[in-house]
Amino acid sequence: MIIKAIKLKKYYESNQSTIKVLKEVNLQVEEGEFIAIVGPSGSGKTTLLNILGLLDNPTSGELYLNGKNTASLSDKEKRKIRLHKIGFIFQNFNLISSLTALENVELPMALAGISPKEQRKRAIELLKAVKLDDKINSKIHELSMGEAQRVAIARAFANNPSIILADEPTAQLDYENKMNIIELLQKLRKKRNTTVIVATHDLSITRNFDKIYELKNGKLINQT
Ligand SMILES: Nc1ncnc2c1ncn2[C@@H]1O[C@H](COP(=O)(O)OP(=O)(O)O)[C@@H](O)[C@H]1O
Ligand SMILES: [Mg+2]
Repeated sequence: MIIKAIKLKKYYESNQSTIKVLKEVNLQVEEGEFIAIVGPSGSGKTTLLNILGLLDNPTSGELYLNGKNTASLSDKEKRKIRLHKIGFIFQNFNLISSLTALENVELPMALAGISPKEQRKRAIELLKAVKLDDKINSKIHELSMGEAQRVAIARAFANNPSIILADEPTAQLDYENKMNIIELLQKLRKKRNTTVIVATHDLSITRNFDKIYELKNGKLINQT
């Protein structure tokens, strides 16, 4: 089991009141599964992905990644896991707009200490896999939304992570581009046996997943 979350809670304190975003989240994900977490805006999807990706801590509860309890990890160890084992895809892409598609995909590999030659080889392979052969040297600000999101997918896979967390990856796209993004995620993960979790409020994209969970009243409910 690659992810095991037990009774995760996340509360936010805001002027005298407590917002209970996650009340009791239990989740078990097997290696290679393609999972959707659905729920309306404000239901806590981003909060949950940030906790699963070690960007944020739960208020209480346990999170095991690859069998290891994450509570005992130092910040440095968490950073290392985020760089090598987890790929993030964000709603707003989080790409560096003044750099090219190629440079954006190379960046996490550079941080991981991969040789420049290998970085280039892998980045070109990934950009071809997301059908951006002709945009490799384009700057991000020259790309369409759909193209930029495909660069973000290529970047997320750069260090060959075991888990990809995608937060509303299709939110800014039209229907055709949405379906393209989901298909590409499917194709890439199958080849590499990557576990992929997609959080979305958009039910039109939730076909083809292995499991669908709904985040409701701070709990995850299996819909499959
Ligand atoms: N840092 C924070 N401080 C206080 N409240 C927050 C914080 N982050 C998120 N929230 C609140 O938690 C709830 C869930 O937010 P979020 O996880 O972003 O939901 P979703 O991604 O499903 O739209 C919202 O009510 C939001 O306002
Ligand atoms: Mg969100």
